[in-house]
Amino acid sequence: MLDITAILASSELFSGLSPASLLRVRDQLRSVRFPRGFDICREGEAGRSMYVIVSGSVSVLSDMGWGQRELDRKGPGGVFGEMALISNDVRSATVRAMGEVECLELDSDAFDSLLDQDPALAQNIAKIMTRRFSSLVHRTSGELLGAYRALTFALANLTESRDPETGAHLERTRTYCALLAELLAHHEHYRDVATPQFIDGIYQAAPLHDIGKVAVPDSILFKPAGLEADEYERMKVHTTVGGAMMDRVIRQSGADIFRVAQKICLYHHERWDGRGYPEGLAGESIPVEARIMALADVYDALLSKRVYKDAMGMREAVERLRAGAGTQFDPTMTEIMVGKIGVFEAAFLRYQDEEPVA
Ligand code: CMP
Repeated sequence: MLDITAILASSELFSGLSPASLLRVRDQLRSVRFPRGFDICREGEAGRSMYVIVSGSVSVLSDMGWGQRELDRKGPGGVFGEMALISNDVRSATVRAMGEVECLELDSDAFDSLLDQDPALAQNIAKIMTRRFSSLVHRTSGELLGAYRALTFALANLTESRDPETGAHLERTRTYCALLAELLAHHEHYRDVATPQFIDGIYQAAPLHDIGKVAVPDSILFKPAGLEADEYERMKVHTTVGGAMMDRVIRQSGADIFRVAQKICLYHHERWDGRGYPEGLAGESIPVEARIMALADVYDALLSKRVYKDAMGMREAVERLRAGAGTQFDPTMTEIMVGKIGVFEAAFLRYQDEEPVA
């Protein structure tokens, strides 16, 4: 003989209910059997009952457009079909019998009256729902973030593959940006801006800073000498092209995370004194992200060998940063970076090109 109250008491939904409530639930239940492969609930269809599994197991499936994905499996004591009753909506998933399944069925009227009578049932429902939704949000936002990060870097590498001189430049500059942003978080002037999200955002977006170089011809990108005036003008366009690319991404996706990338692409060649490009912005009107990127980009360029120049020593490079404070770079930011230059030097040494530049 089945001990139905023991099954109910061990199920997530009915645990903690008073013995009187458990007996009331038991009296409302009806035993039902389903053959293997039977869809007990169908996603998108109306549903008027919920079920407690007595024996056998079910698979909870969600329609993904291209097919079904299994969300969960439930065995004896497991409960399903409760969501349609709670939300008064259609079934949120398909529940399929994996073999022969025996269940206890409770209809929506009985369920509603039980809800009125025992607050423990409402509490259990709230717990189950919270757990289910937080795991869903966690999983989907994790997947999305992972995809964004991988795509961003893959996209940035596209420019790098056309510009082999840069080597590990992307990895180093994103690291300098994050290190500098971390230092700014401890400075009263930048404390409010340099939040943990800001630091992570700049680390993710920094590799895209030169994405607009896809629009610069190889003859200019690979030129082993200084650029002529007209070639320089063509090169400058990489800022506005990158900015426009990011603008399209933002408009199509609505994703704010690309705003950081857009500011970096567009303004990383602006100068503190207003003599930079493309807009000639000056001082604090240059976005903070772009001021950070300017320092990171130039510092790395100074330390790196290029086809048209040799690498500079670390001491000389730091002197160049100092000399640019207040003209090329944000003076407070430069002072902060120079004050801790050792951590940037270590990052430079950590990420070196795999093959020396010919
Ligand atoms: P309901 O929406 O009525 O019908 C389908 C059932 O599948 C649903 O109630 C829940 O019981 C169950 N279900 C839906 N989504 C999940 C999930 N993410 N994890 C576990 N069970 C689920």
